[in-house]
Amino acid sequence: MNEIRFDGKIAIITGAGRGLGRLYAIELARRGAAVVVNDLGGSRDGSGSDTAPAQSVVDEIRNFGGKAIPNFDSVATIEGGEKIIQTAIDAFGTVDILINNAGILADKTIMKMSEKEWDIVQEVNLKGTFSVTRAAFPIMREKKFGRIIFTSSGSGLYGNFGQTNYAAAKMGLIGFMNALKLEGAKYNITCNTIAPIAASRLTEDVLPPELFKKLRPEDVVPLVLYLCWEGCTESGMIFNCAGGWFSRTAVVCGRGIKLGDGCNEISPEAIRDNWQKIANLENAEVLGSLVESFKFIV
Ligand code: NAI
Repeated sequence: MNEIRFDGKIAIITGAGRGLGRLYAIELARRGAAVVVNDLGGSRDGSGSDTAPAQSVVDEIRNFGGKAIPNFDSVATIEGGEKIIQTAIDAFGTVDILINNAGILADKTIMKMSEKEWDIVQEVNLKGTFSVTRAAFPIMREKKFGRIIFTSSGSGLYGNFGQTNYAAAKMGLIGFMNALKLEGAKYNITCNTIAPIAASRLTEDVLPPELFKKLRPEDVVPLVLYLCWEGCTESGMIFNCAGGWFSRTAVVCGRGIKLGDGCNEISPEAIRDNWQKIANLENAEVLGSLVESFKFIV
């Protein structure tokens, strides 16, 4: 059987005490990986902590003979990120796969959103991904292998009412991935992002009940496992996955029009008169890096 396996691989899954992260941890362990089940065990808005969620996933994995160790640190600090990686090193000796999955919500319309609600959502979703990835990266670089997953959201990619904090953090991860994929390319470290929609405590009062029932979190798992597999060498991609639907999505660059040569003046009227071409996305391209955009300019 040409099964996708993870024997001998060490995986860290943040926020794996519940929801999607729990399922990634269980399936990776079933397929041979040794897993670090990280979870702070807080509430949906990031407050509080509890060791029970991570411990129960570890117990579940050990019960079927899998290898797992819990970690209860928050991803939101550099120190927490280092401790999570250290847990993997102490228990299993290395890190091959990192699934940045921990996330929280603090939804408010902008006029009601406090500084604390803005900050904590950046700290967990965006900085949390930085702190764990930063600690894992040197190990992956040294061994010339790494699979890193980022968890974005359609909220950031496309917009969602009442989530400016969350949308900004989740879109920030796209920028993070775009830069890191270049830093990892030489070392066989791939970086890919998923934008899932799945039934969990994060979405129970956000999604319409009919849709909630159909969006099984189990249906997100196969894509994430494929992207974590050593045979998958794609990097820098973003995927929608929801209810059995899998699709690539991307930031694209339209061909536009070149109105100047660096010497002539360009008027606002020229922008107005060429608006159709400037705003047109026909034949738009996915660019591999900022440098690639220079071809349109010079
Ligand atoms: P969930 O709330 O069931 O699981 C998230 C886990 O992260 C929780 O167990 C929580 O304790 C943990 N966590 C929160 N803050 C943490 C911290 N500072 N350190 C360590 N662990 C922490 O949520 P779900 O739905 O499984 O979400 C997983 C990821 O997918 C999140 O990043 C979320 O933003 C993202 N996502 C989920 C969508 C969905 O439809 N469920 C939609 C788009 C994105």
